[in-house]
Amino acid sequence: MQSVPRAPGAVPLLGHALSLWRDPLGFMKSLRAHGDLVRVDLGMMPMYVVTSAELVHEVTVKQARSFEKGRFFDRLRPLAGNGLANANGELHRAHRRLIQPMFSKERIAGYSQIMSRNAQQLADSWTPGQVVDLEQVMAGYAIETLASTMFSTDIGLPAVEAVRKNLPVLLKNLLIRAASPTFLDRLPIRANRDFDAASRALRAVIDEVVSTARRSGDADRGDLLSLLLAAQDADSGKSLSDVEVRDELSTILFAGAETTAAALAWTFHELAGRPETEEQLVAEIREVVGDRPVTLADVPRLEGIRRVLDEVIRLHGVTLLMRRTTQPVVLGGIELPTGTEVAFSLYAIHRDPSLYANADTFDPDRWLPERRGDIAREAFVPFGAGNRKCIGDQFVWTEATIAIATVLAKWQLVPTPGHTPKEVASAVAHADRIPMTIQPRQA
Ligand code: HEM
Repeated sequence: MQSVPRAPGAVPLLGHALSLWRDPLGFMKSLRAHGDLVRVDLGMMPMYVVTSAELVHEVTVKQARSFEKGRFFDRLRPLAGNGLANANGELHRAHRRLIQPMFSKERIAGYSQIMSRNAQQLADSWTPGQVVDLEQVMAGYAIETLASTMFSTDIGLPAVEAVRKNLPVLLKNLLIRAASPTFLDRLPIRANRDFDAASRALRAVIDEVVSTARRSGDADRGDLLSLLLAAQDADSGKSLSDVEVRDELSTILFAGAETTAAALAWTFHELAGRPETEEQLVAEIREVVGDRPVTLADVPRLEGIRRVLDEVIRLHGVTLLMRRTTQPVVLGGIELPTGTEVAFSLYAIHRDPSLYANADTFDPDRWLPERRGDIAREAFVPFGAGNRKCIGDQFVWTEATIAIATVLAKWQLVPTPGHTPKEVASAVAHADRIPMTIQPRQA
């Protein structure tokens, strides 16, 4: 293979693992300075990191057929089997066809009522002066909303409870597991024991719910579980087995919980530092929604919230994604043989100063119609692109907009002095803690 610059700082045996472990976000951002394609060693394994928006577009769209998901996702397989995010090739195409209708406009309209009810319950649960840890509160809202759109009836109650308890344990260690060698999984340490126990518990309870639902008949209850059980491929007539249903449910939980929670938590943090922007949003909510609960029809009209969310998701997005070549590929003039592990960081692309003016500054106005033309289409890919693009993007816009509008209408969230939230790299760049005091919104 033609030579690709290697990132500085590699040490024998560990390669760049220490740099990645110490400051994953800083390290990913630093790679751009060394070229469009940079070699990083994970222990003994070379990984080729794509650092330019054009090459990420090559990998995810133009040459997508020459890639499968690769090592990162192999490591998630014990948790989520061949669910949509892990599956490759024809299996992925078939499952994507089956699952896509569950995220249609009509289905999201149904889920939006659950989202609005959950947001209302959250806002009603607070009292003036209460201090909340926003990261945790938003994780609770995201998990609750996913769980209640998956399992709308009593059959799902044990699963909702198990998801609430076990998912945070798994999410905490997911990225570290994915980037570490397999033998570390078997070390008899607390983190591994907790992870394995949470994984077993979650799997067992979802299995139980799936088989109970299957026994109770295939009625469409409008939730994801019944849709998965009833789904049938139009061409082959095949439906999903119970294990496949469980893997899809687990995948959606892994893909949709932390990402959504982080976006919401950062939104309130960023707004607290920009009272003018927050005031504009509140005025918009009063005009569009008034005193009633937020509905799906309000979502596209809450344009200010959309701009804030775009900016939040630009700054605090998905940390690291991986692919593996399934045939020789030429990338940026360099030929990569079959089996090459390729990675890219949406977080780093979205903070590239050659793509964004004042790249590290939170500026929702960059998304105003008259300014957003300055940003290249390939430069903003918070949900990925091509055949593996996030299936939940419309779901999460609806969910997040409803939550923000519901909370802001009633409360002002004021940062608690003494703590500046720090970014922590997981699947996304989430905050360590965002303690905030709840104050009633003045009329
Ligand atoms: C702010 C929230 C979210 C962000 C930033 C996000 C981001 C992403 C990205 C970047 C990918 C592409 C991964 C790749 O190319 O390797 C992806 C895939 C996926 N996401 Fe999301 N996501 C979010 C919320 C959700 C939600 C709420 C759900 C489900 C309800 C979901 C379900 C999925 C699934 C199933 C995939 C795999 C799709 C496939 O491979 O066909 N995501 N997401």
